[in-house]
Amino acid sequence: MKLGTVPTIVVSSPETARQALRVFDLNCCSRPSLEGSKKLSYNYRNIAFSPFDDYWKEVRKLAVQEIFNIKRVHSIQPVKYEEMRKLIDSFSESASTKTPVNLSETLLSLTVSVVCKASFGVSFQDTVLNNERFNELIPEALEILGSFSASDFYPYVGWIVDRFTGLHKLRERSARALDAFCEQMIDLHLKKDKEENEDFVDLLLKLEKDQVVLGHEKFTRNNVKAVLIDILLAGIDTAAITMTWAMTELSRNPRLMKKVQSEIREKFGDKEITSLKETDELEYMKMVIKETWRLHPTTPLLLPREVMTEFEINGYTIPVNTRLQVNVWAIGRDPDAWKDPEVFLPERFVDSDINPKGQYFELLPFGGGRRMCPAMYLGTKMVEFGLANLLNRFDWELPEGMKAEGMKMEEAPGLTINKKHDLTCSC
Ligand code: HEM
Repeated sequence: MKLGTVPTIVVSSPETARQALRVFDLNCCSRPSLEGSKKLSYNYRNIAFSPFDDYWKEVRKLAVQEIFNIKRVHSIQPVKYEEMRKLIDSFSESASTKTPVNLSETLLSLTVSVVCKASFGVSFQDTVLNNERFNELIPEALEILGSFSASDFYPYVGWIVDRFTGLHKLRERSARALDAFCEQMIDLHLKKDKEENEDFVDLLLKLEKDQVVLGHEKFTRNNVKAVLIDILLAGIDTAAITMTWAMTELSRNPRLMKKVQSEIREKFGDKEITSLKETDELEYMKMVIKETWRLHPTTPLLLPREVMTEFEINGYTIPVNTRLQVNVWAIGRDPDAWKDPEVFLPERFVDSDINPKGQYFELLPFGGGRRMCPAMYLGTKMVEFGLANLLNRFDWELPEGMKAEGMKMEEAPGLTINKKHDLTCSC
């Protein structure tokens, strides 16, 4: 189809996704230069929006080696446990006073603390973003990134529309707030004691100081900030969204809630779940997570790709500069790929090899091919650990007077799709 003046292909079946993300991945793994992402990525210098070039390859490799590898993910275990502990204490308090808990909010604050401590070495309590504004900032930036920007579809004139709709102003405001956050993060690191553990921010600052060239480009302060914002935007709400949707589906399906809780409690009982490794054997819980990703992928359209060299799919020639969107949401509900696709049924994964690692094109929560999420292991572990703890310790149910049928299931707009109305439960 043509969106404005831009030829766009929407891939919405597993077989076509296989062609695009595996067979012809190299032909179409660049990103288009979109107005919405330009400002927030300091001119496409982050990982997610960078075109396919040597700079992207080197920055992505660096991030994979330094923060997303399995060893590093396990090294954040104490951080995760500490944050989880705080959350459990606050839930215990709510349980004793019978006050319902806003799970959407609390799960987001959990992932904020974990990602920030793990990647930036600081907690938000010490930053400019330690206020209510922060809770709005990340979802707002993601909504801007996911919203219709006329300048991306009508080059030359679209910017006029964006000024009228207020999008331009919103974008500027959001970029300024994120920039202020990065500045403070960098300041904290420049001031800190040399003896302290080196983290990812120190590493990026060292690249800047040593004037390292990545790809063909000198790594400057803007590059540091672009990568920090990348991690902030890509890393924080995705895991929280998955946990929120999983808890939503479980609280409207008490049978499944009991089943997954029995599995966890049989294994752990009164023992606390302290390590990320311990969730490996929770087979049914992992099915619940896969089923959540099938029906509620965090990034339903993946990120847009741009065709670099012409190729052919299903007899159609796809020319250079075509924009490609992969509709993972539709693929997860494709009746040719899934039986009773609208039903939340984790048991469909019993005796099935399907996993979310980008090799089964009917389930692509992390995308696939060269642009696939580099933090799949970290993301999965955050979700498994968070859910296992919540479900082990508390009996969750809908607040008094609310019925499963009356639950609001609408999705909020944006690049990542969260539940529109906060999930509140009693425990
Ligand atoms: C449950 C958690 C997560 C999910 C479901 C998820 C999902 C995704 C998806 C769907 C994409 C786009 C793939 C594509 O366009 O083909 C992506 C890209 C990305 N994700 Fe994740 N993600 C998660 C966690 C994280 C975390 C924790 C981080 C970092 C701390 C992260 C960093 C990134 C980055 C940097 C990219 C851009 C990759 C590129 O363009 O080369 N993600 N993620």
